Amino acid sequence: MYSAPTWDPQQYLRHSSHRTRPFLDLLARIPELPADREGRPPRIADLGCGPGNVTALLADRWPGARITGFDLSPEMLEQAKKTYAGTTDGGGWLDFRPADAAHWTPDEPYDLIISNAALQWVPNHPESFPVWTEGLVPGGTLAFQVPANFTSPSHALLGELCETPQWRARLTGHGRRFVHILDAADYLTRLADLGLTVDVWETVYSQLLQGDDPVLDWVKGTALRPVLTALDGDHEAVTDFLAQYRDLLRKAYPPGPHGTVFPFRRIFAVATRGQEPTG
Ligand SMILES: C[S@@+](CC[C@H](N)C(=O)[O-])C[C@H]1O[C@@H](n2cnc3c(N)ncnc32)[C@H](O)[C@@H]1O
Repeated sequence: MYSAPTWDPQQYLRHSSHRTRPFLDLLARIPELPADREGRPPRIADLGCGPGNVTALLADRWPGARITGFDLSPEMLEQAKKTYAGTTDGGGWLDFRPADAAHWTPDEPYDLIISNAALQWVPNHPESFPVWTEGLVPGGTLAFQVPANFTSPSHALLGELCETPQWRARLTGHGRRFVHILDAADYLTRLADLGLTVDVWETVYSQLLQGDDPVLDWVKGTALRPVLTALDGDHEAVTDFLAQYRDLLRKAYPPGPHGTVFPFRRIFAVATRGQEPTG
C-alpha cells in the first residue's frame, strides 16, 4: 500500500548549499510582485516547503510579506516551525501549515505561489495549474523548480536495484515512485495555454561533492526516502540495500582529484498572470 515517505530534515540539509542554489536562480527570475507596486504586504505560498530554509529566503527578498510554507511531512514542518516561524524584521511573517499539494487550492489571492524541488513528488500537479493561477492576483506569479535527473545513473541504478529478485517483493516501484515531472516544453505549453507569460528553462549543475560516498549521502536525503521508509524497522535489510547501492554508485561516480562530480539537471518555470486592463 502507498504511504508518503518519512523525511529526515537533518539528512536533507546536509547538502543545503547545492540544494539552495537552484532556488536562488529561480528567485532571480521572478519579477516584481504586484504588491510591491501597490504598497500592500505581498502574500506568498511555498508548496512543499521542507525544512523552511528556502522559505526564509523569500522573506529576505520580500521582508514585509505574509508567507506560508505548506508541506505534507510532520518532520519537515516541525523543523521549519522551530527554525523560522514568526514575524520578520520587515513587518511580515512566516508560518508553516500541513497541506497536500496534490489537493491544495488558494484560499485567498496570492502574489506568488512558489515550489522548489517538491512537485516531482506530487502526481498530476500540472492539473492544478489552472486553479493555482486563478488564485493569483493580476500580475502575480507561479514559479517552480523540479529536478529532471531521473534517467541519470543515481536514479536509474536505484530503480534497477529495487526490481532485482532480492528486493522486488518489498521495493518494486520504489525507485521511481515519485517521478511525476513533465518535459520542459510540456510545462511551457501548459502554462502558456492558460494565457500566462512564461519563462521555462533547464540547467545542469556540475555539482562537486566531498567526502566518502557523497552521492549516496545526497540521495539518502531525497530519492532514497521511499526505500528507507518501506524498509523501516528492518535494520539488516537497510544495511544490505545501502551496501549494494553504494557499490553501484561508486562505479558510476568515481571520486576525482577535486571530489566527486554529480551532474544534476533541473527544470525551472516562471509564469506570470497578465495585469487587468486599466481604464
Ligand atoms: C526535496 S524536499 C524540498 C524542500 C524545500 N522546498 C527545499 O527546496 O529545500 C521535498 C519536500 O516536498 C514535500 N512534499 C512531498 N510531497 C508533497 C505533497 N504532496 N504535498 C506537500 N508537500 C509534499 C516533502 O515533504 C518535502 O518536504
